[in-house]
Amino acid sequence: MKVMARNFKEAVLNRRSYYSISNESPISDAQIQEIVEFAVKHVPSAFNSQSTRVVILLGENHKKVWNITKETLRKIVPAEAFGSTETKIDNCFASGYGTLLFYEDQEVVEELQKAFPGYSENFPVWSQQTAGMHQFAIWTMLEDTGFGATLQHYNPLIDAEVAQTWGINPNWKLIAQMPFGKPTQAPGEKEFKPINERVLTFK
Ligand SMILES: Cc1cc2nc3c(=O)[nH]c(=O)nc-3n(C[C@H](O)[C@H](O)[C@H](O)COP(=O)(O)O)c2cc1C
Repeated sequence: MKVMARNFKEAVLNRRSYYSISNESPISDAQIQEIVEFAVKHVPSAFNSQSTRVVILLGENHKKVWNITKETLRKIVPAEAFGSTETKIDNCFASGYGTLLFYEDQEVVEELQKAFPGYSENFPVWSQQTAGMHQFAIWTMLEDTGFGATLQHYNPLIDAEVAQTWGINPNWKLIAQMPFGKPTQAPGEKEFKPINERVLTFK
């Protein structure tokens, strides 16, 4: 499988947000699954809790999640602003090949809170951090195979309908959505804040 064809640093450098994607795939669906399973197995989690869950939506399922998002937003976004919302959903997300739904299993979080009451307040925060680590690893590995992806947050607006549509465990909390597809346009230039204000070294 072509995971990490570049070295890690190159892959990190190349990962970007791709808002222009088509519904072609550079790899097989089995390889997409393998990337997700690889990350879910090997990315670290707080207390090795393994609280992250990922749902892979391909084909009609991918289209459906963006239709749910569009129809949910149609009800709440003012009519004059909805046009641009619809264009974004159609051209940046639904136009892609698939979507990953990132969840965190709250049952796992609550069990840890019960087992380690002293850390009770930390576990939800660590769960979010764990989720972020998975998102970054998968985002980078997808890009490395030739996909382009973005990270979206239409939760909690879409949670109930998504859960109902795919029979998602009610203990799973939706954290993020990652639409991906073949890039049809390169991302723009990225601005960087001065690195010496962001990293301090004392030696
Ligand atoms: C925690 C996190 C949340 C983000 N949420 C969104 C989002 O809701 N929608 C979106 O379009 N991009 C989102 N992004 C993407 C960032 O805007 C993007 O990564 C950043 O501007 C740097 O650009 P790059 O990804 O091309 O390197 C998110 C990124 C991170 C790390």
